[in-house]
Amino acid sequence: MATTGGHVQGFGQTNRTDRWWVGPAATAGGLGAWLLYYAWAAFQGKYWAAGPYISPFYITYTHPTSVTDTSPAYAFWGMWPEWWPALITPALILGFLPGTFRVTCYYYRKAYYRAFFGMPPGCAVGPRPVNYRGETGLLLFQNLHRYTLYLALLLLPILYYEAALSYSWGGELGIGLGSVILTINCFLITGYTLGCHAWRHLIGGRLNCFSCDGISEARHGAWRFTTWLNIRHMRFAWMSLYWFLFTDVFIRLMSMGYLPDINTWNGISWIADFH
Ligand code: FES
Repeated sequence: MATTGGHVQGFGQTNRTDRWWVGPAATAGGLGAWLLYYAWAAFQGKYWAAGPYISPFYITYTHPTSVTDTSPAYAFWGMWPEWWPALITPALILGFLPGTFRVTCYYYRKAYYRAFFGMPPGCAVGPRPVNYRGETGLLLFQNLHRYTLYLALLLLPILYYEAALSYSWGGELGIGLGSVILTINCFLITGYTLGCHAWRHLIGGRLNCFSCDGISEARHGAWRFTTWLNIRHMRFAWMSLYWFLFTDVFIRLMSMGYLPDINTWNGISWIADFH
């Protein structure tokens, strides 16, 4: 029978006989691949829009109004200043805002401490022999997570706004495969954000008694919904992370002419068919 506990001294040493290393190895592969793709896509600054769709990596650009209108000169809040360094693309800015939220997330911390730093590699598995002081020293900044939540909440309306615009092209309402993909992206990121432990605390977790404190049924319902999401936080963390990437890949391939879209404007159409 597999042993799942017990302590032995030494890095990676354990009494466990199950395949405890599968989780950290899969996490390292999954996060590493995502980061590599993001680093490439963020600096590229090309192929970020196709028809009515705009990649969520690049939502700080203006929404295109025609196939040829993919000028990165405009942001939806106005012109980019001329002195703006070209290397700092919108995807970099966008990556920074929710990136701080993800990096400090309680779930991701556990995942990448194990996968990348071996601190420890798994439950009841020996950690790297360094003077670990938890999050009271070098990693004190992790406590800012409750504030990065506000950055993530700010981003949600922007994502929904861009997804809503994908239901209109050339002044005509409609729907396409890309609109559905962008909408699912919003739902998954909402599910991840509202499942946050800090959000759950804000919305009701800090109360000792809902009925004694005269809390409305609506707030209690919101807290229960957040609790449901919170229990599935890891699932939403991965689904939202990879759906975000998939959305960018879909729009990129479409914009490069490698993939058609199915929509109510042109039926099955390639980017060149959008007019
Ligand atoms: S705990 Fe994961 S996002 Fe807050």
